[in-house]
Amino acid sequence: MTNLQDTVTLNNGVKMPGFGLGVYKMEDGQSVVQSVKAALKHGYRLIDTASYYHNEEGVGQAVRESGIPREEIFVTSKVWNDQQGYDNTLKAFEDSLEKLGLDYLDLYLVHWPVTGKFKDTYRALEKIYEEGKVRAIGVSNFQVHHLEDLLKDCKVKPVINQVEYHPHLTQEELKVYCEKENIQLEAWAPLKRGGVFDEPIIQELSEKYRKTPAQVILRWDVQHNVVTIPKSVKEQRIIENADIFDFSLTKEEVKQIDSLNRNERSGPDPDTFV
Ligand SMILES: NC(=O)c1ccc[n+]([C@@H]2O[C@H](COP(=O)([O-])OP(=O)(O)OC[C@H]3O[C@@H](n4cnc5c(N)ncnc54)[C@H](OP(=O)(O)O)[C@@H]3O)[C@@H](O)[C@H]2O)c1
Repeated sequence: MTNLQDTVTLNNGVKMPGFGLGVYKMEDGQSVVQSVKAALKHGYRLIDTASYYHNEEGVGQAVRESGIPREEIFVTSKVWNDQQGYDNTLKAFEDSLEKLGLDYLDLYLVHWPVTGKFKDTYRALEKIYEEGKVRAIGVSNFQVHHLEDLLKDCKVKPVINQVEYHPHLTQEELKVYCEKENIQLEAWAPLKRGGVFDEPIIQELSEKYRKTPAQVILRWDVQHNVVTIPKSVKEQRIIENADIFDFSLTKEEVKQIDSLNRNERSGPDPDTFV
């Protein structure tokens, strides 16, 4: 990636921006509308929401009022755990579309691998995809064994696996597996919600490149070819987070950040959460 609007090509040929805005914990209404509009104004073209975030209405409003053609914006949403199963998922998708006020989605994800349900949920995503209501389908929080299980049965390969990913959780095995299967890895909580800024190597690189700790970490994601969706409600930070295309970490520095891995999650463990 050389700029904010560069894309990655997913395994079904669809192009997706490699960097975007996450909107988890943004309040529906003015808060999310203003943040999404600010991001779009400053060049972001990927917005990541979910039914669970209860702010799809505001996201849709911002997309519509942005003045940017719909087809230039990539909108992701996700089916929540209590909406899973085949019929429920078909309904959940229609609800999301209606709340967003859009007539198609760019990407729809199974939010978590709910035991005993995620395959039926995914079958519903395949139907939605075949009907042309979504340009790409994928999963989130899937471990290698969930993917292996899904790939045995699915007709349409997931394009994305969106997982927690930051310097304290580098997901090495999962990353190698996804690369081998041509499933794009996408990082949620790329900043570990502020939990990695104080690492000495991050501080050191921040001084060396005159970039903030957040920018150093997000640059590391980009150099790993991981799609990244940091969240901020603050316009200044939305600008800051995307201002990472004018410097480059050396291979050695990327490795130094890799070595901060502790397999430490800020969110739930997919094997015990659902
Ligand atoms: N698939 C899943 O299960 C899943 C789970 C969690 C999240 N996600 C997605 O991933 C997105 C990102 O994850 P996240 O929101 O949990 O965590 P994150 O992006 O790692 O961190 C967000 C936090 O960092 C702060 N922040 C942002 N930029 C900053 C900067 N430059 N300097 C200092 N602080 C900064 C934000 O505060 P302010 O807003 O006050 O700036 C917010 O408190 C979510 O919004 C959501 O779209 C997906």
